[in-house]
Amino acid sequence: MLKTEILRVDPASIDLNKIQKAAKILRDGGLVAFPTETVYGLGANALNPRAVGKIFKVKGRPPDNPLIIHIGGKSELERLATNIPQQVELLIENFWPGPLTIVLQKAPIVSQIVNSGLETVAIRMPSNKIALSLIKESQIPIAAPSANISTRPSPTCAEHVINDLKGRIDAIIDGGETNIGVESTVIDLTTTPITLLRPGGVTFEDLQKILGKNNIEKLKYNPQEKIGAVKSPGMKYRHYSPKADVFLVEGRSHKIKLKVQEIATNYKKEGYKVGIITINQKRQYQADIVEFIGSDFKTIAKNIFKTFRKFDDKDIDIIVIEGVKEKKLGLAIMNRLRKAAREIIQV
Ligand code: TXA
Ligand code: MG
Repeated sequence: MLKTEILRVDPASIDLNKIQKAAKILRDGGLVAFPTETVYGLGANALNPRAVGKIFKVKGRPPDNPLIIHIGGKSELERLATNIPQQVELLIENFWPGPLTIVLQKAPIVSQIVNSGLETVAIRMPSNKIALSLIKESQIPIAAPSANISTRPSPTCAEHVINDLKGRIDAIIDGGETNIGVESTVIDLTTTPITLLRPGGVTFEDLQKILGKNNIEKLKYNPQEKIGAVKSPGMKYRHYSPKADVFLVEGRSHKIKLKVQEIATNYKKEGYKVGIITINQKRQYQADIVEFIGSDFKTIAKNIFKTFRKFDDKDIDIIVIEGVKEKKLGLAIMNRLRKAAREIIQV
């Protein structure tokens, strides 16, 4: 067991001493969890293969699922990537710092372990002030996946990280709740058109607006053939799951309510502890817990992983959740829900 130091940092007035302490741990090859605007990340020096190796071990992450490297500015991009296409300029101008990860051809300096032996590397510049300060003070690019045990919901506050990783990592910077709540959008710039590998905080519609409608397309994901799995290694694994079995109900709004209640009631009769997650405040459901998580995409995204973890803490066996429309941020929300779901029910 490691002694995990908890460093509380107020994002409105950042205590540089604490950031410098965390930065030193990273430079010395240790692991530090820190907030970003999307979810908490588990950071290591991206240029130190031993430190990066620890991330995989601590998370129980499959070695063929590559990591995102977090940088503090455009200049660092040129160290880590080569053959950088022109559109990158446009993307950076519009979306950095922020929840957009770009996949580019890797430079020789990037070691195999970070990108799981691929020829490419995923890079993003976060907008969270604490994350940026940590990158700046450590003066190194930081490799960081979400700071959860593999397959569990991504952490949106320090407490989630503490629950998953305390005793296994050197420090956790507690910078409060994250703003977006789902991970960054990942796009591959080594293809023409550009491919959306993972929907996230930056929407597909926003990317189309900046890049041109036909210059980006969604990854065609076929679960049977795992075509998508090869292009975006992270997408093939069960993910974002609470301990409970999740039933996702989607389709026509007026039919959803009946179906959700029917599933909940059936499992309840069998003696299971059932939770319902709804996006309609007015719907009166009967279950052990019913949680309204917001009706607009932003609020839903912010609450989704948090609510999964909350239900886990209450030992809920079955979660029934309503789907959202698959547009804008709804695309990222549904992507996470589909991956968490044991069953998807269309009505
Ligand atoms: O918002 C986020 O992106 C958070 C915060 C901490 O920055 N990080 C995060 O990392 O979600 P992680 O490791 O949980 O997800 C990284 C995703 C995976 O789906 C992975 O397969 C993909 O990025 N990825 C990384 N490198 C890649 C590469 N070279 N080619 C294709 N996909 C890559
Ligand atoms: Mg993750």
